[in-house]
Amino acid sequence: MKKHIVLLPGDGIGSEVTSAAQEVLEALAEEFDHTFTFESKDIGGSAVDKHGTPLPQETTDACRKADAVLLGAVGGPKWDANPPHLRPEKGLLSIRKELNLFANLRPVQGFSTLLHASPLKQEVIENSDLLIVRELTGGLYFGTPSERRNNGTSVVDTLAYERSEMERIVRRAFEAAALRKKHVTSVDKANVLESSRMWREVVEEVKDEYPDVTVEHMLVDAAAMKLITNPAQFDVIVTENMFGDILSDEASVLTGSLGMLPSASMNETGFGLYEPVHGSAPDIAGQAKANPLAAILSAALMLRHTFHMEQEAQRVESAVQEALEQGYHTGDLNVPGGQQVNTQQMTEAVISLLKADS
Ligand code: NAI
Ligand code: MG
Repeated sequence: MKKHIVLLPGDGIGSEVTSAAQEVLEALAEEFDHTFTFESKDIGGSAVDKHGTPLPQETTDACRKADAVLLGAVGGPKWDANPPHLRPEKGLLSIRKELNLFANLRPVQGFSTLLHASPLKQEVIENSDLLIVRELTGGLYFGTPSERRNNGTSVVDTLAYERSEMERIVRRAFEAAALRKKHVTSVDKANVLESSRMWREVVEEVKDEYPDVTVEHMLVDAAAMKLITNPAQFDVIVTENMFGDILSDEASVLTGSLGMLPSASMNETGFGLYEPVHGSAPDIAGQAKANPLAAILSAALMLRHTFHMEQEAQRVESAVQEALEQGYHTGDLNVPGGQQVNTQQMTEAVISLLKADS
């Protein structure tokens, strides 16, 4: 298959981990006889420096024409004092909005070799392998009014959703579950919030379209507790924007390092922007210390969710798993023994294991 991928390296370690992911994709294309073409565009602080805006029009245009987008990270101290419209994060928020990326998928997998790197007990996180599906463009973070009132003595935020916005994210979660362990946990606060009661109705309606998938409703406070006391009980968690924001950060504790966590943000058509969860890590930028695995695992999500190349996605994921099992680790991974490697060496290890696996 032929696919065109736009790379948005961004700032700091963004370019280091993005080129690592590109190398992995190139090796994979060779193995599977695909043709992947790449084009790099500016976003974030480096785009502000070059074009005077964190999201140049040509970047948006290129993304619209691409089959998928792979982003590194944006931001850094150099731009911290910039006015809001010239801040690097503005580029990221704008591209998500421009491309209508309403579905945020964050898989959280406890890699066996990293179990001890988590502050949680090994037996608790063992066998945990879950996917958080978070609504990304609605709810409390976008509702209006959102303002101070009465001379600043009162304040209001608004949690608003269209039924159609709930349906499309819930459907996305069921589709994902159908390809996994076939269980959806819908998280809400239906004992208190009217929006959550509608959310539950929508889940009950959509579930009839997926007879193979079982469903459970869970209140968000209970879910927060169970996520760290019994994470293995979850397969797919689907929830609205703010609950998903909080739960996905909580769940990241299961993996041991920020450098391991990939994410996908997708629109209605299955088009997506893929990026590691971590930031631009200015403290280690330019030193070849960055862990490229979150970016490489993000590329695997691209293969799975936008290109529908499940076998290829699994090949990348098992190469990552094997590299860890063989003791390769970057400095951020608290692994005793084994071999500490730099960004390029970790990338090469993944590529050679990916080829060996055929
Ligand atoms: P960060 O994720 O960049 O770094 C936090 C810590 O984790 C640092 O010590 C860093 O060295 C380490 N780290 C992160 N990713 C790593 C990797 N792949 N390999 C090895 N170590 C890694 O978060 P921080 O320091 O809060 O933010 C730095 C900049 O990144 C800020 O300008 C922030 O706004 C931006 N940022 C951007 C994001 C994005 O583009 N999606 C997300 C989060 C932060
Ligand atoms: Mg967050």
